[in-house]
Amino acid sequence: MAFKKSDGIRPFENKIWLSSPTMHGDELKYMKEAFDTNWMSTVGRNINETETLLADYIGVKYAVALSAGTAALHLATKLAGEKHYGQARPNAGTLDKHTVFASDMTFDASINPIAYEDGEAVFIDTEYDTWNMDPEALEKAFEIYPDTKLVVLAHLYGTPGKIEELREICRRHGASIVEDAAESLGAEYLLDGEWKETGSFGDYNCISFNGNKIITGSSGGMFLTDSKDDADKVRKWSTQSREAAPWYQHEEIGYNYRMSNVIAGVVRGQFPYLDEHIAQKKAIYERYKEGFSDLPVKMNPYDENKSVPNFWLSCMIIDEDAMCAQVRDDSRALYNSETGKSCPTEILKVLADYNAEGRPIWKPMHAQPIYRTHAFITAKGNGRGQSNAYIEKGRALDVGMDVFARGLCLPSDNKMTPEEQDVIISLVHDCFR
Ligand SMILES: Cc1ncc(COP(=O)(O)O)c(C=O)c1O
Repeated sequence: MAFKKSDGIRPFENKIWLSSPTMHGDELKYMKEAFDTNWMSTVGRNINETETLLADYIGVKYAVALSAGTAALHLATKLAGEKHYGQARPNAGTLDKHTVFASDMTFDASINPIAYEDGEAVFIDTEYDTWNMDPEALEKAFEIYPDTKLVVLAHLYGTPGKIEELREICRRHGASIVEDAAESLGAEYLLDGEWKETGSFGDYNCISFNGNKIITGSSGGMFLTDSKDDADKVRKWSTQSREAAPWYQHEEIGYNYRMSNVIAGVVRGQFPYLDEHIAQKKAIYERYKEGFSDLPVKMNPYDENKSVPNFWLSCMIIDEDAMCAQVRDDSRALYNSETGKSCPTEILKVLADYNAEGRPIWKPMHAQPIYRTHAFITAKGNGRGQSNAYIEKGRALDVGMDVFARGLCLPSDNKMTPEEQDVIISLVHDCFR
């Protein structure tokens, strides 16, 4: 048996979550203010204040509060499509017949908007240094698809990617960036000698206030920009694209994507605690790192000189030679217990048995059934069709699937006590016995 139970450890009475909302009290005050003043709508003071708070914090001129990060990403992607290819007919997307390069290891909400806008996502492989888009693979993608004008990039688990290199490549190829900072609010990156917030590096930037994020509105998202025209356009599209007429008049397709003033009250109440949440998450990351220093595993990596993550999720990756056999199909997983070895499937099972929530690494988009026919580009070029029954070619390069196979997200809830975290650390040790 690989997992051998330590004496005296019992399942947690209260579940230890991956990342759950942490409320402080002011949220209710601002929600009540909306109620008491009857601004129970998609206009009101909470929305205005929240937009100002976030724009100032991130260092952009304009923020537009929306119903979800996904809504922000959709309108950002649409805006980029209009910029490069012009306005689409009402029944067609702005990216029709165009390729878009996209982070491969991300949540599908980052890249579904490419499909909403009829574009063709081309997935760019991941690098091992930050688990984000590999600049080398992006460069290769521009060699293969030189006409591409848009890149959607995400910062996984709150760790900034190689922003400087990625921006430089995009600049050289005349491509715009949609930056998905949904998971990385509060993370910083050093660019041209200046520390800046993620959510300010793209031409179109998005954050999320989903219930599991570093601060939450229970739901919600935001579009961030320095362009007044873009902010005005997104605000217009998000409120059904009304024209200035006494009646409902529409020249463009509209959406019902605006944030509610009640939700904005929650975000407004959460905002002052953003830095506190980041400090708590960082302490969790450091405690895991220290606790696992004697195991054949590493924490999710980041560039210590050029970035400060928000440490939203603590993750680990198991050394190749310490992996027990593990197979996964589209919905199930099996593993072999092996002495001194373990795998994500075993560790996640043990955590669940002890009432703690971990999660597999986000499965790469190029391996998702819905996107399996889309192109996938690695640092070596085309990532598909690299095997041959008659010629031994070794394992094809696929960093994302390797991290998916060997990595996992650990319980990272900022309400977890050090004592509870010590139990998690001990359980992971028990998996490697
Ligand atoms: C990377 C990433 N992008 C986009 C989203 C979508 O945000 P929302 O849930 O607010 O729509 C999420 C999370 O939910 C995410 O993790």
